Amino acid sequence: MSFGSLLSAGEIGAMTLSNRVVLPAMDMNLCDDGDFSKAEIAHYTARAAGGVGLIITGTGAVAWPNGGCSWHQPSFSNDRHIPSIRALADSIHGAGSKLCVQICHHGKTAGVDTAQGRPLLVPSLPDGKLDLAALQDNTMDELAKLGTASQGKQATYKEADEDDLAWVIDQFVQGAARAARAGVDAVEIHAAHGYLINTFLSAGYNKRTDRWGGAIENRGRLMTEIVRAVRAQVGNTIAISVRLNGMEYGLQDGMTPSEAAIFAVMAQDAGADAIHVSANAHNPFADFTDGPLPSGEAQYREFARIVKKAVTIPVIAVGRITPEIGNEMIARGECDFVSMGRQLLADPDIVNKLKADQRKSIRPCINCYVCVEQNFFDAPPKCAVNPALCNEDIAELVPAPHVKRVLIVGGGPAGLEAARIAASRGHVVSLYEASSRLGGTAWFSQLTTPDNGPLVDWLEHEVRRLGVQIFLKTRLSAHEIKQLAPDEVIVATGAVRNRPSNERTDYARSRVYTGDDLRALLTGEGTVTSASPQARLVARLARLARISSKMSRVRSLSRAYLPLSKDITVIGGGLVGLELAEFLAARGRRVTLVEQGAQLGLPMAMPRRWTAVKRAVDHGVQMRRSSADVVSTRDVICAGDVVAHAPIAQELRASGSVVHVIGDANDIGYIEGAIHSAGEIARGM
Ligand SMILES: Cc1cc2nc3c(=O)[nH]c(=O)nc-3n(C[C@H](O)[C@H](O)[C@H](O)COP(=O)(O)O)c2cc1C
Ligand code: SF4
Repeated sequence: MSFGSLLSAGEIGAMTLSNRVVLPAMDMNLCDDGDFSKAEIAHYTARAAGGVGLIITGTGAVAWPNGGCSWHQPSFSNDRHIPSIRALADSIHGAGSKLCVQICHHGKTAGVDTAQGRPLLVPSLPDGKLDLAALQDNTMDELAKLGTASQGKQATYKEADEDDLAWVIDQFVQGAARAARAGVDAVEIHAAHGYLINTFLSAGYNKRTDRWGGAIENRGRLMTEIVRAVRAQVGNTIAISVRLNGMEYGLQDGMTPSEAAIFAVMAQDAGADAIHVSANAHNPFADFTDGPLPSGEAQYREFARIVKKAVTIPVIAVGRITPEIGNEMIARGECDFVSMGRQLLADPDIVNKLKADQRKSIRPCINCYVCVEQNFFDAPPKCAVNPALCNEDIAELVPAPHVKRVLIVGGGPAGLEAARIAASRGHVVSLYEASSRLGGTAWFSQLTTPDNGPLVDWLEHEVRRLGVQIFLKTRLSAHEIKQLAPDEVIVATGAVRNRPSNERTDYARSRVYTGDDLRALLTGEGTVTSASPQARLVARLARLARISSKMSRVRSLSRAYLPLSKDITVIGGGLVGLELAEFLAARGRRVTLVEQGAQLGLPMAMPRRWTAVKRAVDHGVQMRRSSADVVSTRDVICAGDVVAHAPIAQELRASGSVVHVIGDANDIGYIEGAIHSAGEIARGM
């Protein structure tokens, strides 16, 4: 497919962009006392060098530390910050892109205000408490870290008065002026995501009856006055973008797309050059995966389309937009630019790869929310699939000083990633996989988590492209490995899923499946040890029909037929058990999820965990936390007892080989652990 629309040049105000791909604001939390640090500049510069048309920095506070949400965010409140903004601008320009800084007052979420004893500025005092039920699945450590920005202090609120609002407008003007003096190409006024301007726009938060509340023109006044004043200050030297919510999920009287379109026109009339259409959810602990980080592909597409119809200035769309969808949206006139947030955290080189016709080489974001979880702790994001995020020094793979013969045992994500990096660095790599396909547990996890599929496809594509020798259906003994005499051996054989011990007599009258049994049952691969004759027949038929060649087929077929009884107990409510419970319940099973620990869904990143628990409950899953309940259902699935296991490594070590053990074979860390541990070893060889 060609990406002609996405890769065509475009204009926002006086700014000409080389293509339509935008890096939206994402907090890196790498600033030092409000200054862009070297690491933060390296992050943005890597995306600029990767071909992105416009770089927007993570949200900065115009009056920092006043109205700040983080101790590590950019500040625009003092001239002393100008040199670091200029250093960033020079670096981005040197890499061929344009720079926009996002400026904000964080209003009701300004944790730094709380920490420093100031009340949070709001249009109206909040009424009603947030439903915090989701936090029951947080560990004590997570709960403690959630209070990092506010230093654990209790928030107080102040209804903004005329003086406060005049000050806020002036702070935006001064912040934008500083940014312009430092050489940026644009500012983005943050009027979304529950921050101060947004709370004035939204009838859900703004209950005022003065000139700042009530009618839509009044609610829009703070935004329009800021845009107008900033425009008057900076003239046409820089462009102005305004970020708006196209929707407010879970908020009574929250913004709708048609209201967003009216605010967009107001912003345009006040002097804005572009509207960036995002969305938000009122309760971050319940609905974060709706907004501001949607889990649905192109979830906000319709909001952008509605805004685009109302305005004449460019519209930037966002929200899990793939290159294909983005190209189509632009070609159809639904928007003018597309932001790719997490996808550009996962792979900074998207644009260059599209230009070079290497679509399949783009490392996919797997929608796991590991990155943004760190923002809840006021920390820099980590990426499950890209260890170089916030650590750009390791992004470039340095050629190996001595070419080695590297033998990898196991073709799951850890083995594949190690093979990819080792081969990229010039080593001669061979990979042995006992089963008939690559991807290991990650491949099977697509059954419940389809977003993992593209990662497996990408890893396979890359190792084949790089010429890694792949041997499927080959289980080597330690002796055979010795005979092949590799220079280095990497063991990535994954974890083992144990069968419950015989002491659990309460299982005696149930059919007990492990994850491996279930895999065999559904795909026809492997052996089903403990299923009914009927289930074994299904497994055989599945094998004959080669049903397992595509997991999407297994997923859809499982909606029509599952060889499991109506009542199922899933033992182990961690990441795997929770997703499995939801999957089975969505297929009409009455599921009881039993977890010994106090929390469900660990170690899933918090936003996804909260949503997964909510969805499982919505599907009728019975949750038993802190429980060792006796099982009485016919079918029992053990999703808990997963242990690292690498006996072949011990054998090899005993005979003097250099062996590295990575991924779940070394320490249970799922995809993130697999990719990161593989990188550490393969970069150092
Ligand atoms: C780690 C992280 C930090 C974010 N910080 C900001 C921010 O500072 N300001 C903002 O407007 N949006 C922020 N967002 C939201 C993104 O700009 C974007 O709208 C969102 O990720 C949806 O786009 P995507 O699906 O392409 O990732 C952040 C997102 C992530 C992943
Ligand atoms: S951490 Fe997960 S969600 Fe975030 S960018 Fe990486 S793969 Fe995507």
